[in-house]
Amino acid sequence: MSLFWRIFSLNAAVLTVAALVLLFAPVTVSATARLAEALIILAGTALTLVANAAMLRVGLSPLARLTRVMTTIDLLKPGTRLSARGHGEIAQLITTFNSMLERLEAERASSAGRALSAQEAERHRIAQELHDEIGQTLTAVLLDLKRVAKAAPEPVADQLLQVQESTRNSLDEIRRIARRLRPGVLDELGLASALRALAGEFTTAGLSVRRQVGSDLPVLPKDVELVVYRVAQESLTNAARHSAAQHVDLVLARTDFGVRLCVRDDGRGLRGAAEGAGIRGMRERALLIGAHLTVESGTTGGTAVQLEVKA
Ligand SMILES: Nc1ncnc2c1ncn2[C@@H]1O[C@H](COP(=O)(O)OP(=O)(O)O)[C@@H](O)[C@H]1O
Ligand SMILES: [Mg+2]
Repeated sequence: MSLFWRIFSLNAAVLTVAALVLLFAPVTVSATARLAEALIILAGTALTLVANAAMLRVGLSPLARLTRVMTTIDLLKPGTRLSARGHGEIAQLITTFNSMLERLEAERASSAGRALSAQEAERHRIAQELHDEIGQTLTAVLLDLKRVAKAAPEPVADQLLQVQESTRNSLDEIRRIARRLRPGVLDELGLASALRALAGEFTTAGLSVRRQVGSDLPVLPKDVELVVYRVAQESLTNAARHSAAQHVDLVLARTDFGVRLCVRDDGRGLRGAAEGAGIRGMRERALLIGAHLTVESGTTGGTAVQLEVKA
């Protein structure tokens, strides 16, 4: 039914009932209404208005639902659709809205895909340059230092040894940065080893990362592995940076549909914090491979990030 006829019939129903009540009720109105008569008419009018408002509220409720969804919709949490019943204008509006969401979600996923692959390519390039250019230069400097230290007199040789040490530390740091930018182990040794290295990297005096990677994992495409790795990396970064936790559990297990990554800490929990670039980034990556991501405060405190991947 069109919106016009919907509202018209609701009003007509209310007015008809009011007229019937007037016809069959034992009421009369004098030419100049008496107080009792005026009160009855006022009460009747109020009742009619209330009934009208209630029916309009019911009749227009699909629009209210639509407005609610429109104001709260988040393209990074896809899948929200309204059910459209009937054939009227409201149903048509809802159907149009649903198909608009479909298009926006697809567009969002593909633009996120383009941005992320550009970002990964850039990281790859920087990691390679760090490794090949600065890494090689520092290695050459280290060899020179070694040679010079051998020929140098005693006090200078000692100092040169210290310079060698700090150069070696810088080299290690550069390798670490390059690895973080581009998880080479992921390509070389696979996801399980890359996650082991990641867990090791985040284990410090105050934080222990317990890692549990299933041995029966299905073979995952390279881009899916990268998403799992990046989500684990961001979750561990957040746990280390925000949670004040002592333990983090990093679990990657096989499920009926694919794999599930779960990173759970025993820290202070989200406490209503707004999602920042990190969590939004995880959502974008999840969207890219059709995975489902949830970030929530655990029932027993702490924060849990879950990535459900369909293989
Ligand atoms: N494991 C966690 N424990 C406690 N708070 C967290 C955790 N992860 C995220 N948060 C909260 O959520 C916010 C948003 O996280 P994120 O999107 O990664 O942005 P960023 O890390 O850049 O602040 C953080 O600022 C923090 O307040
Ligand atoms: Mg973060």
